[in-house]
Amino acid sequence: MSRRWLVGGIGAIAVVALACGSGREGGAAGPEPIQVGHYASLTGDTATFGQSTDRGLRMKIDEINAAGGVLGRPIEIITEDDRSITEEARSAAQKLLQRDQVVALLGEVASSRSLAAAPEAQRARIPMITPASTNPKVTEVGDYIFRACFIDPFQGAVMAKFARETLGADRVAILFDFKQDYSVGLADFFRKTFEASGGTIVADERYTSGDIEFRAQLTKIRATKPDAIFVPGYYTEVGLIAKQARELGIDVPLLGGDGWDSSKTLEIGGKAVEGNYFSNHYAADSDRPEVVAFVRAYRERWGETPDAMAVLGYDTGGILADAIARAGSTDPEKLRDAIAATRNYPGVSGTISMDENRNARKDAVVMKIRDGAFRYEQTVPAF
Ligand code: PHE
Repeated sequence: MSRRWLVGGIGAIAVVALACGSGREGGAAGPEPIQVGHYASLTGDTATFGQSTDRGLRMKIDEINAAGGVLGRPIEIITEDDRSITEEARSAAQKLLQRDQVVALLGEVASSRSLAAAPEAQRARIPMITPASTNPKVTEVGDYIFRACFIDPFQGAVMAKFARETLGADRVAILFDFKQDYSVGLADFFRKTFEASGGTIVADERYTSGDIEFRAQLTKIRATKPDAIFVPGYYTEVGLIAKQARELGIDVPLLGGDGWDSSKTLEIGGKAVEGNYFSNHYAADSDRPEVVAFVRAYRERWGETPDAMAVLGYDTGGILADAIARAGSTDPEKLRDAIAATRNYPGVSGTISMDENRNARKDAVVMKIRDGAFRYEQTVPAF
């Protein structure tokens, strides 16, 4: 289920030549493209994650190619759909590595899927950059694995502090997805910071991705009389959880993380998600000039407001192209070193530097859902 979008004026002849594996340089069809693999959830439970990332990524690559590409060659993105399924992420990565011999692998959004694919990239010694997976274990897989975003110990602390200091919450209940590494990790990091700052976790309930019925857990949570409920899940379930919580008369704020970021949260949750808060990588309503320009261009091309994945896909494409240019080569080891040496890359999602653990250190924003939209609430600097 691969989608190949050829860019930079490369015609059908070049496609045939590439498919035959000819080492053609130059010629009428132009220089040979640099092939980059993107494995993403274009369909399935969390389809907006992969679709947005791919759109952002393609926007950046098209800009780069329009300006002449890198090392005098255009970049070609080959996207493989993993259907939002963990095991499929691994086989999508394998296809891109073995069949397409890509010079780098980009993906995924959901941490469990990045964790399934990362060992493939590490074994092949091909650099992988996840745009949006925040679970710390992802980059611990090995020295070829990078990320363009912050990690969950930070994100969890951001929301724990927000609950404690901004909302003045003493008692918080947690409802997390125990099938997702992201959700399990974020629940844990939130709990640690919240308790360390004197708060009490009054309930620790769980569900599984794909569930549609949460009333049993919510009824237990209601009995503990929390000041807020932390729901570090993905949008598919978060909207339903919010609805069922409100139906049960639970009116305290629900808090979440970046997994809430999809227009589907608003569609599914409707009025029930109003007044709730989540942490994220970027705010579309920010007045930073980079954000304003990006939001305008993205809306023009795709007819919708970019979410965080779109921005991180865009920035990840930029980080990779910048590293290829600095490496002066697509040699995997040189490319790995160049990505590791990324310092102060000017991304739309913030300034990006890789730390010694191949993670980006970046600020977070807290968003509030108000009048059917995500509104910027505050920035929390990296710590
Ligand atoms: N951080 C989430 C994860 O690791 C994925 C995500 C990123 C979701 C950005 C939405 C926005 O699974």
